[in-house]
Amino acid sequence: MKRILTGITPSGYPHLGNYIGAIKPSLDLLDEKCESFLFIADLHALIKVWDTERLNKLSMQIAKAWLASGLNIEKTFFYRQSDIPEITDLTWILSCVTEKGLLNRSHAFKAAIDSNKESGKKDHEEGISMGLFSYPLLMACDILTPNATHVPVGKDQQQHLEITRDIAQKFNSRYQEIFNIPEPVISSDKLVLGIDGRKMSKSYNNIIPLLGTDEELKNSVLKIVTNSQKPGEKKDWRENTLFSIYSSFADEKQIEELKNKFEEGIGWGDAKLIVYEDLNKILSPIKDRFESLQSQEKNIEDMLQENAKKVRKITVPLIERVKLAVGL
Ligand code: TRP
Repeated sequence: MKRILTGITPSGYPHLGNYIGAIKPSLDLLDEKCESFLFIADLHALIKVWDTERLNKLSMQIAKAWLASGLNIEKTFFYRQSDIPEITDLTWILSCVTEKGLLNRSHAFKAAIDSNKESGKKDHEEGISMGLFSYPLLMACDILTPNATHVPVGKDQQQHLEITRDIAQKFNSRYQEIFNIPEPVISSDKLVLGIDGRKMSKSYNNIIPLLGTDEELKNSVLKIVTNSQKPGEKKDWRENTLFSIYSSFADEKQIEELKNKFEEGIGWGDAKLIVYEDLNKILSPIKDRFESLQSQEKNIEDMLQENAKKVRKITVPLIERVKLAVGL
């Protein structure tokens, strides 16, 4: 049986990229016959969220976003990463299996170095914590502790899955065949772009909010970068951030229609209204359910605790096997 697993880092306001990359594919997979592990990656958030209250709030917000998007808790192990201590136990053990060079090549680490270089810092590793450096290792342990087989992620996370597979293989061949070699389930070949045309990311400040007001949603869609072509001019749908964002959530028929409209020369303003309206149709019911969950925080917390207990019935025996295998 497939065991799917995915997590979302509560390091910012939930955005459309989280929904398309992780929330929706993980829920779509629930319809199939499989076990599913969905979690709030709060240990990952510690890398950049240092405000205690904010971290708590963001974690709860991700929980509510997932529930509002239709997560069925009867069919899922839904938990907080920090409630499963076996994940961090495994992290040390696997850090002794992981070559440093593997993590040197991680995109997140390289991006941090590049940004130091760009800002003219002498020490290119200044301000880079061990947490940031070993982030792909912790992610590998998120996946391997419950021994997942399939991991739905956005395309930007593909490298982390390769690193995970590498680490699992290394452990299996050095000690014992304990870990499944997990497969990525990439929902779309394309990255979900942000309003400035780069990957949608909290750190780029270019997100489309998942749960903002209609006004906020509209404003962010209106800010999507375009070029200076006038209404009536035929527009290329290929190099087109607005079209790319639309294609990440719309259905095939809608996508085809907008493609034709661009060929016919629809103005940017009118195209943005279509994007806003169709997106709002998808997000409105999610936002309504999110609102109704505001008063349910205590129940959600209890549910997360109950789920952590269930998950540990799986992770505790696994870590025991791992410890035995390595000689602890
Ligand atoms: N790194 C992922 C992201 O930023 C979140 C994440 C943490 C994750 N652990 C994971 C995703 C394990 C899949 C599996 O989106």
